[in-house]
Amino acid sequence: MFSRGRATAGSIPADGPARIEVAGDPPARHPPAEHAVPVPEVSEAPDATATEAGRIPAARGADEPMLRLEKVSKSFGSLRVLREIDLTVARGEVVAVIGPSGSGKSTLCRCVNRLETVDSGRIVIDGQPLPAEGRALARARADIGMVFQAFNLFGHRTVLDNVTLGPRKVRGTPKAEAERRARALLERVGIADKVDQLPAALSGGQQQRAAIARALAMEPKIMLFDEPTSALDPEMVGEVLDVLRELASSGMTMLVVTHEMGFARSAADRVIFMDGGQILETGAPDEFFANPRQERARDFLAKVLTH
Ligand SMILES: Nc1ncnc2c1ncn2[C@@H]1O[C@H](COP(=O)(O)OP(=O)(O)O)[C@@H](O)[C@H]1O
Ligand SMILES: [Mg+2]
Repeated sequence: MFSRGRATAGSIPADGPARIEVAGDPPARHPPAEHAVPVPEVSEAPDATATEAGRIPAARGADEPMLRLEKVSKSFGSLRVLREIDLTVARGEVVAVIGPSGSGKSTLCRCVNRLETVDSGRIVIDGQPLPAEGRALARARADIGMVFQAFNLFGHRTVLDNVTLGPRKVRGTPKAEAERRARALLERVGIADKVDQLPAALSGGQQQRAAIARALAMEPKIMLFDEPTSALDPEMVGEVLDVLRELASSGMTMLVVTHEMGFARSAADRVIFMDGGQILETGAPDEFFANPRQERARDFLAKVLTH
Protein backbone atom coordinates (compact mmCIF):
# COMPACT_ATOMS: atom_id res chain seq x y z
CA MET A 1 0.00 0.00 0.00
CA PHE A 2 2.80 2.37 0.89
CA SER A 3 6.45 2.09 1.70
CA ARG A 4 7.35 1.90 5.35
CA GLY A 5 9.84 4.03 7.17
CA ARG A 6 10.81 6.08 4.17
CA ALA A 7 9.11 9.42 4.50
CA THR A 8 10.01 11.91 7.19
CA ALA A 9 7.78 13.87 9.51
CA GLY A 10 6.34 16.94 7.89
CA SER A 11 7.51 15.85 4.48
CA ILE A 12 4.31 14.61 2.94
CA PRO A 13 4.55 14.10 0.04
CA ALA A 14 8.20 13.31 0.39
CA ASP A 15 9.17 15.30 -2.66
CA GLY A 16 7.30 18.44 -1.64
CA PRO A 17 8.61 21.42 0.28
CA ALA A 18 9.13 20.87 3.98
CA ARG A 19 6.57 23.46 5.03
CA ILE A 20 3.73 25.29 3.40
CA GLU A 21 3.50 28.99 4.06
CA VAL A 22 0.45 30.58 5.61
CA ALA A 23 -1.32 32.84 3.15
CA GLY A 24 0.08 36.35 3.28
CA ASP A 25 3.50 35.35 4.46
CA PRO A 26 6.39 36.20 2.18
CA PRO A 27 7.40 33.16 0.17
CA ALA A 28 10.39 31.51 1.69
CA ARG A 29 12.25 28.43 0.63
CA HIS A 30 12.60 25.94 3.39
CA PRO A 31 15.08 23.15 3.72
CA PRO A 32 14.36 20.08 1.64
CA ALA A 33 12.08 17.44 3.04
CA GLU A 34 14.77 15.38 4.69
CA HIS A 35 15.55 18.35 6.90
CA ALA A 36 12.03 18.29 8.21
CA VAL A 37 13.10 15.66 10.70
CA PRO A 38 14.24 17.17 13.95
CA VAL A 39 17.50 18.93 13.42
CA PRO A 40 18.89 21.32 15.97
CA GLU A 41 18.65 24.88 14.70
CA VAL A 42 20.13 26.22 17.91
CA SER A 43 22.87 24.40 19.70
CA GLU A 44 22.48 26.17 23.02
CA ALA A 45 19.62 26.82 25.35
CA PRO A 46 18.10 30.27 24.85
CA ASP A 47 19.79 32.82 27.06
CA ALA A 48 18.08 34.31 30.07
CA THR A 49 17.38 37.61 28.34
CA ALA A 50 15.47 35.92 25.56
CA THR A 51 13.47 33.93 28.06
CA GLU A 52 12.68 36.98 30.17
CA ALA A 53 11.57 38.84 27.09
CA GLY A 54 8.98 36.13 26.65
CA ARG A 55 10.28 35.10 23.26
CA ILE A 56 12.45 32.14 22.66
CA PRO A 57 13.81 32.61 19.18
CA ALA A 58 13.96 29.41 17.17
CA ALA A 59 13.71 27.28 20.29
CA ARG A 60 13.64 24.24 18.11
CA GLY A 61 16.69 22.38 19.17
CA ALA A 62 16.54 18.63 19.24
CA ASP A 63 16.10 18.85 23.01
CA GLU A 64 12.97 20.96 22.79
CA PRO A 65 10.00 18.62 23.01
CA MET A 66 7.31 18.89 20.37
CA LEU A 67 4.63 19.09 23.05
CA ARG A 68 4.83 20.05 26.67
CA LEU A 69 2.00 20.29 29.16
CA GLU A 70 2.82 21.89 32.48
CA LYS A 71 0.37 21.50 35.33
CA VAL A 72 -2.62 21.66 33.02
CA SER A 73 -5.95 21.66 34.85
CA LYS A 74 -9.45 21.78 33.50
CA SER A 75 -12.87 21.60 35.13
CA PHE A 76 -16.37 21.49 33.76
CA GLY A 77 -18.34 23.19 36.53
CA SER A 78 -17.43 21.35 39.70
CA LEU A 79 -16.08 18.34 37.80
CA ARG A 80 -12.29 18.34 37.70
CA VAL A 81 -11.46 16.61 34.45
CA LEU A 82 -7.72 17.29 34.18
CA ARG A 83 -5.66 17.62 37.35
CA GLU A 84 -2.28 19.25 36.96
CA ILE A 85 -1.26 17.18 34.00
CA ASP A 86 2.46 17.21 33.22
CA LEU A 87 3.32 15.59 29.92
CA THR A 88 6.17 15.87 27.47
CA VAL A 89 6.15 14.39 23.99
CA ALA A 90 9.50 14.36 22.21
CA ARG A 91 9.92 14.95 18.50
CA GLY A 92 9.00 11.85 16.59
CA GLU A 93 7.71 10.17 19.72
CA VAL A 94 4.51 8.11 19.62
CA VAL A 95 2.60 8.21 22.89
CA ALA A 96 -0.43 6.01 23.43
CA VAL A 97 -2.96 7.32 25.93
CA ILE A 98 -5.09 4.68 27.56
CA GLY A 99 -7.53 4.69 30.43
CA PRO A 100 -11.17 4.17 31.35
CA SER A 101 -14.03 6.15 29.89
CA GLY A 102 -14.36 9.55 31.53
CA SER A 103 -10.73 9.71 32.63
CA GLY A 104 -10.09 12.88 30.62
CA LYS A 105 -8.36 11.52 27.52
CA SER A 106 -10.49 13.40 24.99
CA THR A 107 -10.37 16.57 27.03
CA LEU A 108 -6.59 16.32 27.06
CA CYS A 109 -6.54 16.18 23.24
CA ARG A 110 -9.09 18.95 22.95
CA CYS A 111 -7.04 21.21 25.21
CA VAL A 112 -3.91 20.61 23.13
CA ASN A 113 -5.53 22.07 20.03
CA ARG A 114 -7.55 24.46 22.11
CA LEU A 115 -10.98 23.21 21.29
CA GLU A 116 -11.17 23.60 25.07
CA THR A 117 -9.50 26.29 27.13
CA VAL A 118 -7.46 25.26 30.14
CA ASP A 119 -8.15 26.71 33.58
CA SER A 120 -4.51 26.77 34.59
CA GLY A 121 -1.15 25.50 33.46
CA ARG A 122 0.64 25.84 30.16
CA ILE A 123 0.71 24.08 26.82
CA VAL A 124 3.81 24.58 24.68
CA ILE A 125 4.07 23.31 21.13
CA ASP A 126 7.44 23.23 19.41
CA GLY A 127 8.76 25.75 21.91
CA GLN A 128 5.86 28.16 21.52
CA PRO A 129 3.13 28.59 24.14
CA LEU A 130 -0.26 27.85 22.63
CA PRO A 131 -1.76 31.26 21.83
CA ALA A 132 -5.06 32.16 23.46
CA GLU A 133 -6.85 33.38 20.38
CA GLY A 134 -6.76 35.14 17.06
CA ARG A 135 -4.50 34.63 14.12
CA ALA A 136 -1.66 33.24 16.20
CA LEU A 137 -3.99 30.53 17.49
CA ALA A 138 -5.20 29.74 13.98
CA ARG A 139 -1.60 29.29 12.88
CA ALA A 140 -0.71 27.11 15.84
CA ARG A 141 -3.80 24.99 15.22
CA ALA A 142 -2.84 24.48 11.61
CA ASP A 143 0.27 22.72 12.91
CA ILE A 144 -1.77 20.29 15.02
CA GLY A 145 -3.53 17.52 13.14
CA MET A 146 -6.53 16.00 14.86
CA VAL A 147 -8.40 12.84 13.95
CA PHE A 148 -11.54 12.02 15.87
CA GLN A 149 -13.54 8.89 16.45
CA ALA A 150 -16.24 10.18 14.08
CA PHE A 151 -14.58 10.97 10.81
CA ASN A 152 -15.93 14.52 10.51
CA LEU A 153 -15.51 14.73 6.76
CA PHE A 154 -17.51 17.31 4.82
CA GLY A 155 -20.30 15.10 3.51
CA HIS A 156 -21.16 17.17 0.45
CA ARG A 157 -17.55 17.42 -0.73
CA THR A 158 -15.48 14.86 -2.58
CA VAL A 159 -12.61 13.15 -0.86
CA LEU A 160 -10.21 15.27 -2.91
CA ASP A 161 -11.95 18.48 -1.79
CA ASN A 162 -11.89 17.32 1.81
CA VAL A 163 -8.13 16.90 1.65
CA THR A 164 -7.36 20.07 -0.33
CA LEU A 165 -9.62 22.56 1.44
CA GLY A 166 -7.40 23.11 4.48
CA PRO A 167 -4.16 23.68 2.58
CA ARG A 168 -5.92 25.97 0.09
CA LYS A 169 -7.87 28.06 2.60
CA VAL A 170 -5.48 28.10 5.53
CA ARG A 171 -2.06 27.68 3.94
CA GLY A 172 -2.84 29.41 0.66
CA THR A 173 -1.55 26.47 -1.37
CA PRO A 174 -2.44 26.82 -5.07
CA LYS A 175 -5.18 24.43 -6.20
CA ALA A 176 -3.04 22.32 -8.53
CA GLU A 177 -0.33 21.90 -5.93
CA ALA A 178 -2.87 21.06 -3.19
CA GLU A 179 -4.42 18.44 -5.46
CA ARG A 180 -1.09 16.91 -6.36
CA ARG A 181 -0.25 16.55 -2.69
CA ALA A 182 -3.72 15.27 -1.83
CA ARG A 183 -3.46 12.53 -4.43
CA ALA A 184 -0.08 11.50 -3.04
CA LEU A 185 -1.52 11.38 0.48
CA LEU A 186 -4.56 9.40 -0.60
CA GLU A 187 -2.20 6.99 -2.30
CA ARG A 188 -0.22 6.79 0.92
CA VAL A 189 -3.29 5.84 2.96
CA GLY A 190 -4.42 3.43 0.27
CA ILE A 191 -7.53 5.12 -1.13
CA ALA A 192 -6.20 6.77 -4.27
CA ASP A 193 -9.13 5.33 -6.21
CA LYS A 194 -11.63 7.24 -4.04
CA VAL A 195 -10.54 10.80 -4.83
CA ASP A 196 -13.72 11.78 -6.64
CA GLN A 197 -16.15 10.01 -4.33
CA LEU A 198 -18.32 11.58 -1.67
CA PRO A 199 -17.56 10.32 1.87
CA ALA A 200 -20.87 8.42 2.01
CA ALA A 201 -19.64 6.14 -0.78
CA LEU A 202 -16.68 5.04 1.35
CA SER A 203 -16.54 2.41 4.09
CA GLY A 204 -15.85 3.58 7.64
CA GLY A 205 -12.24 2.51 7.39
CA GLN A 206 -11.82 4.38 4.12
CA GLN A 207 -13.47 7.50 5.56
CA GLN A 208 -11.14 7.44 8.52
CA ARG A 209 -8.16 7.06 6.21
CA ALA A 210 -9.46 10.07 4.23
CA ALA A 211 -9.72 12.00 7.51
CA ILE A 212 -6.10 11.10 8.29
CA ALA A 213 -5.01 12.24 4.82
CA ARG A 214 -6.90 15.48 5.37
CA ALA A 215 -5.07 16.12 8.62
CA LEU A 216 -1.71 15.24 7.06
CA ALA A 217 -2.35 17.61 4.17
CA MET A 218 -1.71 20.49 6.55
CA GLU A 219 1.77 19.11 7.23
CA PRO A 220 1.21 19.15 10.97
CA LYS A 221 3.98 19.08 13.52
CA ILE A 222 2.02 16.71 15.68
CA MET A 223 -0.96 14.44 15.13
CA LEU A 224 -3.58 13.83 17.80
CA PHE A 225 -5.80 10.80 17.44
CA ASP A 226 -8.81 10.39 19.69
CA GLU A 227 -9.92 6.77 19.47
CA PRO A 228 -9.56 6.71 15.70
CA THR A 229 -10.80 3.13 15.38
CA SER A 230 -13.57 3.04 18.00
CA ALA A 231 -16.39 3.77 15.56
CA LEU A 232 -15.25 1.20 13.03
CA ASP A 233 -16.54 -2.25 12.26
CA PRO A 234 -13.95 -4.74 13.52
CA GLU A 235 -12.75 -5.75 10.08
CA MET A 236 -11.77 -2.17 9.32
CA VAL A 237 -9.74 -1.50 12.44
CA GLY A 238 -6.63 -3.11 11.00
CA GLU A 239 -6.43 -0.98 7.87
CA VAL A 240 -6.57 2.22 9.91
CA LEU A 241 -4.03 0.96 12.45
CA ASP A 242 -1.74 0.09 9.53
CA VAL A 243 -1.87 3.73 8.44
CA LEU A 244 -1.09 4.84 12.00
CA ARG A 245 1.83 2.43 12.14
CA GLU A 246 3.24 3.70 8.88
CA LEU A 247 2.89 7.26 10.12
CA ALA A 248 4.61 6.36 13.37
CA SER A 249 7.51 4.76 11.55
CA SER A 250 7.81 7.82 9.31
CA GLY A 251 8.82 9.93 12.30
CA MET A 252 5.58 11.80 12.95
CA THR A 253 5.03 12.97 16.52
CA MET A 254 1.80 11.35 17.66
CA LEU A 255 -0.49 11.33 20.68
CA VAL A 256 -2.92 8.46 20.23
CA VAL A 257 -5.87 7.81 22.53
CA THR A 258 -6.73 4.20 21.91
CA HIS A 259 -8.30 1.08 23.29
CA GLU A 260 -6.29 -1.02 20.87
CA MET A 261 -3.81 -2.48 23.31
CA GLY A 262 -2.01 -4.49 20.65
CA PHE A 263 -1.36 -1.31 18.74
CA ALA A 264 -0.27 0.57 21.86
CA ARG A 265 2.12 -2.20 22.72
CA SER A 266 3.67 -2.61 19.30
CA ALA A 267 3.60 0.90 17.82
CA ALA A 268 3.96 3.32 20.73
CA ASP A 269 7.23 4.46 22.24
CA ARG A 270 5.49 5.15 25.50
CA VAL A 271 2.14 4.45 27.12
CA ILE A 272 0.41 6.75 29.56
CA PHE A 273 -2.41 5.52 31.70
CA MET A 274 -5.00 8.09 32.78
CA ASP A 275 -7.64 7.84 35.43
CA GLY A 276 -9.63 10.54 37.18
CA GLY A 277 -7.97 13.35 35.25
CA GLN A 278 -4.47 12.31 36.20
CA ILE A 279 -1.65 10.45 34.54
CA LEU A 280 -1.30 7.57 36.97
CA GLU A 281 1.41 5.71 35.19
CA THR A 282 3.73 6.14 32.25
CA GLY A 283 6.21 3.72 30.81
CA ALA A 284 7.62 1.80 27.90
CA PRO A 285 4.88 -0.39 26.40
CA ASP A 286 6.54 -3.73 27.12
CA GLU A 287 7.21 -2.74 30.68
CA PHE A 288 3.76 -1.25 31.23
CA PHE A 289 1.79 -4.14 29.78
CA ALA A 290 3.93 -6.83 31.39
CA ASN A 291 4.11 -5.23 34.77
CA PRO A 292 1.73 -2.32 35.47
CA ARG A 293 2.64 -0.83 38.82
CA GLN A 294 -0.64 0.86 39.72
CA GLU A 295 -3.59 -1.12 40.97
CA ARG A 296 -5.98 0.81 38.76
CA ALA A 297 -3.86 0.21 35.68
CA ARG A 298 -3.82 -3.51 36.50
CA ASP A 299 -7.62 -3.50 36.90
CA PHE A 300 -8.08 -1.66 33.63
CA LEU A 301 -5.80 -3.99 31.71
CA ALA A 302 -7.43 -7.05 33.22
CA LYS A 303 -10.79 -5.80 31.94
CA VAL A 304 -9.77 -4.75 28.44
CA LEU A 305 -7.42 -7.62 27.77
CA THR A 306 -9.86 -10.38 28.71
CA HIS A 307 -12.41 -9.34 26.08
N1 LIG B 1 -18.10 19.81 27.44
C1 LIG B 1 -18.25 19.13 28.60
N2 LIG B 1 -19.07 19.58 29.55
C2 LIG B 1 -19.22 18.92 30.72
N3 LIG B 1 -18.57 17.79 31.04
C3 LIG B 1 -17.72 17.29 30.12
C4 LIG B 1 -17.53 17.92 28.86
N4 LIG B 1 -16.62 17.20 28.16
C5 LIG B 1 -16.29 16.16 28.95
N5 LIG B 1 -16.95 16.21 30.11
C6 LIG B 1 -16.80 15.27 31.22
O1 LIG B 1 -15.42 15.21 31.54
C7 LIG B 1 -15.04 13.91 31.88
C8 LIG B 1 -13.91 13.47 31.01
O2 LIG B 1 -14.39 13.36 29.69
P1 LIG B 1 -13.50 12.92 28.48
O3 LIG B 1 -12.31 13.80 28.41
O4 LIG B 1 -14.38 12.85 27.30
O5 LIG B 1 -13.01 11.47 28.95
P2 LIG B 1 -12.53 10.23 28.09
O6 LIG B 1 -12.19 10.71 26.73
O7 LIG B 1 -11.35 9.70 28.85
O8 LIG B 1 -13.65 9.25 28.07
C9 LIG B 1 -16.28 13.06 31.79
O9 LIG B 1 -16.86 12.93 33.06
C10 LIG B 1 -17.17 13.84 30.85
O10 LIG B 1 -18.52 13.59 31.12
MG1 LIG C 1 -12.90 10.15 24.86
